[in-house]
Amino acid sequence: MNKPRLLIIGARGFLATYAVQSSADRFDVIRGDRSSSAQPGTVQLDVADSSNVDRAFRQVRPNYVLLLAAMSDIDRCEAAPELAFATNARGAEHVANACVRANARLLFTSTAAVFDGKKHGYGEEDEVSPLSVYGNSKAWAENAVRSLLPSAVLLRFALVLGFAGKIGTNAMLDSVMQKWKAGQPVFFPIRETRNPIDADSLSKIMIGMLANDRVSGLYHVGATDSISRFELGKRLAARAGVSSDLVRPLDAAVPGRAPRGEDHFLFTDKIRKVCNLGVQTSDQMIERCFS
Ligand SMILES: NC(=O)c1ccc[n+]([C@@H]2O[C@H](COP(=O)([O-])OP(=O)(O)OC[C@H]3O[C@@H](n4cnc5c(N)ncnc54)[C@H](OP(=O)(O)O)[C@@H]3O)[C@@H](O)[C@H]2O)c1
Repeated sequence: MNKPRLLIIGARGFLATYAVQSSADRFDVIRGDRSSSAQPGTVQLDVADSSNVDRAFRQVRPNYVLLLAAMSDIDRCEAAPELAFATNARGAEHVANACVRANARLLFTSTAAVFDGKKHGYGEEDEVSPLSVYGNSKAWAENAVRSLLPSAVLLRFALVLGFAGKIGTNAMLDSVMQKWKAGQPVFFPIRETRNPIDADSLSKIMIGMLANDRVSGLYHVGATDSISRFELGKRLAARAGVSSDLVRPLDAAVPGRAPRGEDHFLFTDKIRKVCNLGVQTSDQMIERCFS
C-alpha cells in the first residue's frame, strides 16, 4: 500500500534532520528547501514566493506538510525585519494557502518568543506579547495559519537541544561544542530561563500529531521544569566532559542582540493529554541529546 506523502519544508535545517528520520516509516517523505536540487525525494521551494510554493505543491501533491522553514536566528530577524516578515509571516501564509488548495494537513512550528517572558508560565490561552521582530513575525503567522486552516496544528516551543551534525543550522549544540573543542569559553545568559526539549523527542511528537487527524489547534511543548541558559550550559558541559571553566555567565546586554523574554516557561498540560511525550525533565532531554 502507498504511504501518504509528507512534504517537509525547510529540509536542510536543524529540526528537519530529525523529522526526516522520524517520519520515514510512516510517510513517503519529500524534502523541500529553497536551493534547487535535482535529487530524488526533493523539491525546490522558497516559502517567501507564493507562486514558487504553489508550483512545488502542484509537483509534490502532499497529503501532509511540516513547515520548519524559517528565519530562525532572532538577531538576524531584528537586523532584517522585512526579510524576517516575508519568510516567517508571509511564508507561513503562502504555505497555509497552498495546503487549503491541496487539502493537505499542516503542522506549523512556532515559538515561546511570541510572549514577553515577564511572568512565569504561559498557557495556550494567554495573549501573545512579542518583544522581537522574530516573535512578532511568528505571532502574525500563527494568526494567518489558524484563520486559513483551522485543522492545522500549531506547536510552540522555547528551546530545542540537539546536534544537526553540520554547522550553519540553528542547532545550538553544534556551535557550542565546536567552541569548546577549540578550548574557547561560551557565554550563556543567566537571566533567561526556558523549558527545553530535545530535537529527537520533538520530531517524534510533531510526526505523531501530524498523523493524528483528530488533533488540531495550538499546543505548547517542552520539559516539565525550567532552567536558566547558564545552568543549562553547565549541565551540557558536564555531560560532554568539558571543563566548567568554559561555561561563562552572560549578564549584560550585548549590542546587536535582539530583545528576548526572560522567562519562557511554557505550560505543557494540554499536549500531555493528547500525546505521550516520553521524556519529562530538562535533564532527560539533555541526556537524549548525547545518547
Ligand atoms: N531551534 C530552536 O530552538 C527553535 C525554538 C523555537 C522555535 N523554532 C522553530 O522551529 C522551526 C525549525 O527551526 P530550526 O531550529 O530547524 O531552524 P534552522 O536550522 O534555521 O532551519 C530552518 C530552515 O529554513 C530554511 N529557510 C529559510 N528561509 C527559507 C525560505 N524563504 N524558503 C524555504 N526555506 C527557508 C533555512 O534554509 P537555509 O539553510 O537555506 O537558510 C533552514 O534550512 C522554525 O519554525 C523555528 O522558528 C526553533
